[in-house]
Amino acid sequence: MYRVACLLLVALFGVVYAVPSQYDSEQVWVAGNLSYPLPSNALVGGFDSFGYKLYVGRVNFTGTIAPCSVKAATGVAEGNTELFTFTERAYQLLTTKDNMDYEWIRSYDGILEDNAVSVGTSALNERVFICRAKSVDGLIIGSLFLTKKACLIKGLTTFNYIHLFDKYEVLIAVPKTNAKYY
Ligand SMILES: *[C@@H]1O[C@H](CO)[C@@H](O)[C@H](O)[C@H]1NC(C)=O
Ligand SMILES: *[C@@H]1O[C@H](CO)[C@@H](O)[C@H](O)[C@H]1NC(C)=O
Repeated sequence: MYRVACLLLVALFGVVYAVPSQYDSEQVWVAGNLSYPLPSNALVGGFDSFGYKLYVGRVNFTGTIAPCSVKAATGVAEGNTELFTFTERAYQLLTTKDNMDYEWIRSYDGILEDNAVSVGTSALNERVFICRAKSVDGLIIGSLFLTKKACLIKGLTTFNYIHLFDKYEVLIAVPKTNAKYY
């Protein structure tokens, strides 16, 4: 009996430790940095105020899997968790699947949209989604934490603040309905 209880405890402990900070595996993410060629199907999610495209990426920052804006020309990924901003030079890029449509839909106040694309989970085991909003820096990719009821976006040009938007767009991926098969 005692042994069973011990095993159960170990199993529970294992689960508690295994769950937070996991990459979501529904989408296809490709490792990237400045040395790697940009995949042709990497998804563009926005642009900065200097006219550079921003690709949708993700980073594991201090145990939170967070979305980021990747500027391919410099190999710089900028983003934020619920608490911290980051600038990284190694990241994963979201690539599109042929049988899916990727759309940005208007949303607000942290509601869970159907087919919202998750990057993974935070250190507190909350699922993190991909959002974007128009800030002074351009159309910037941010982190949607439903518990924050807002899209959190790092300031790019001024200083490292996190800006909260209660109206924003969410990235969704839906299976193509008009796919033709030959
Ligand atoms: C990119 O990643 C590869 C493999 O990890 C590494 O060899 C290379 O030095 C990295 N390049 C940059 C610019 O970080
Ligand atoms: C993310 O990084 C943390 C350390 O900061 C690590 O414990 C965790 O296993 C990493 N998660 C994944 C999915 O690699």
